[in-house]
Amino acid sequence: MAGPTPAESLMGGKGYHPELPPTPVLSSTPTPQNERRRYRIATELVHSEHRDQYGASSMPVYQSATFYQEGANAGGEYDYTRSGNPTRTQLERHLAKIIGCEKCFAVSTGMSALDVVTRVLKPGDEVVTGDDLYGGTNRLLKYLESHNNIVVHHVDTTDLEAVKKALNSKTAMALLETPTNPLIKVCDIKAIAETAHQANKECLVVVDNTMMSPLFQAPLELGADVSYESGTKYLSGHHDVGSTCHCLKYPSRI
Ligand SMILES: Cc1ncc(COP(=O)(O)O)c(C=O)c1O
Repeated sequence: MAGPTPAESLMGGKGYHPELPPTPVLSSTPTPQNERRRYRIATELVHSEHRDQYGASSMPVYQSATFYQEGANAGGEYDYTRSGNPTRTQLERHLAKIIGCEKCFAVSTGMSALDVVTRVLKPGDEVVTGDDLYGGTNRLLKYLESHNNIVVHHVDTTDLEAVKKALNSKTAMALLETPTNPLIKVCDIKAIAETAHQANKECLVVVDNTMMSPLFQAPLELGADVSYESGTKYLSGHHDVGSTCHCLKYPSRI
């Protein structure tokens, strides 16, 4: 049987599993959520395995809009860059590893991530969220209330009893920003996630993790279903990247 190609060897040899997020990491105590963690986050951050054909140590930036196909009926992995390209795949795989999620999608901004996530809401659905939120989030929720008949309850999410009162079987989403922007209010993601799933097991617990970054807070490990970040803040570190990602624990639910 043919051994690994030189590029595969560079990328991890035998342990290279293209179907898994790169460098599957196991932390000291594996759990269902973090079973891929093996090294400390600082190590994981600098280890970015990818499938570049020449084994480039840094993922090349693919600027091509379109990709040649093998034939009329033989679609390749990529065809049109809006649907995906190798650079974006690598970013998503790297973030999935760091965030500890099943699936990560990179989109252009934090607001587009929230827009994508809130598309699951149907008229009549209820959302429980904070009373201090990033302005754009407030505006998007107002739009959904006035145009899509979504019912939004704003409560002080630092008060678990207040959150419990607002949750009910119609709560389709608990949207938590923690710490909040601008008042830096911190809520108990784990307790709220448990209560929200008790009120409605289908309820999606979504966390805007912008203010903490995956380095300091792992919402999915605390029971959230979706975590997203505005890439212009701590995720990029230099305030020079406009992007975001949203990461799902259970992709099939969205
Ligand atoms: C907490 C928080 N969430 C979301 C956003 C929106 O992100 P973006 O500006 O990338 O659309 C911001 C932007 O300031 C933010 O501070």
